[in-house]
Amino acid sequence: MIKTTEQIEKMRLAGKLASEVLEMVTPLVKPGISTGELDKICHDFIVNEQDAIPANVGYKGYEKTICSSLNQVVCHGIPDFQRKLKDGDILNIDVTVKKDGWHGDTSKMFLVGKSQPHNERLVNITQECLYKGIEQVKPGAYLGDIGNAIQVHAENNHYSVVEDYCGHGIGEIYHEDPQVLHYGQAGTGLELREGMCFTIEPMINLGTKYTKALADGWTVETKDGRNSAQWEHTLVVTSSGYEVLTKRSEEIF
Ligand code: MF3
Ligand code: CO
Ligand code: CO
Repeated sequence: MIKTTEQIEKMRLAGKLASEVLEMVTPLVKPGISTGELDKICHDFIVNEQDAIPANVGYKGYEKTICSSLNQVVCHGIPDFQRKLKDGDILNIDVTVKKDGWHGDTSKMFLVGKSQPHNERLVNITQECLYKGIEQVKPGAYLGDIGNAIQVHAENNHYSVVEDYCGHGIGEIYHEDPQVLHYGQAGTGLELREGMCFTIEPMINLGTKYTKALADGWTVETKDGRNSAQWEHTLVVTSSGYEVLTKRSEEIF
């Protein structure tokens, strides 16, 4: 679970590539483009420009490069050439790049075209939840500190935290221990140590926390049909705190 300096250097590269996929696709996320087209563009960029592997392809039978989760979709939405983006949609694009055997996993939200204030608020507060979780990370802190910071901020804003899916350890293995819950009590759970790598990826709902999986075997929606948002980063615990391996250039940590 603890990575060496050399291993972290490889995680740094994988993380940077994953963040660059999101940066590349961002200007293309506009009304009229389909999630299938966005997927193909990300796939070709990873394979042809980054000389890397789209880690979602073939993962437990998944066939696409990105997950594209629209509106009431909580996570694992499947890209679709028939589904064109429209004004007012909120979209999460989640991508994992594998480079030299190591993984970087990240996602961000998009407000498509003319957005509605209630959606802007959900998207922004969910990003703040991620950032508040990240700020807890340092040696000697606990996983429960991360979950608690996220839960408190979400509930202070009258949102709910999805409990059915969580963040995860990451390295040469895409999903490994520990599980990183987005709710919980401070001072509980695993104690963080320098060199641990994991994701934080809160899914925050406008309504209740309950989810339902669709018959396609992947898509997860809110049970009540109200919108959901998610942001994800991969990070490493450093001697003094954290390093966000999937930081985009617009972000300051
Ligand atoms: N990237 C997702 C995560 O954050 C997992 C997607 S698995 C897939 O862990 F197969 F649906 F792509
Ligand atoms: Co993840
Ligand atoms: Co992800």
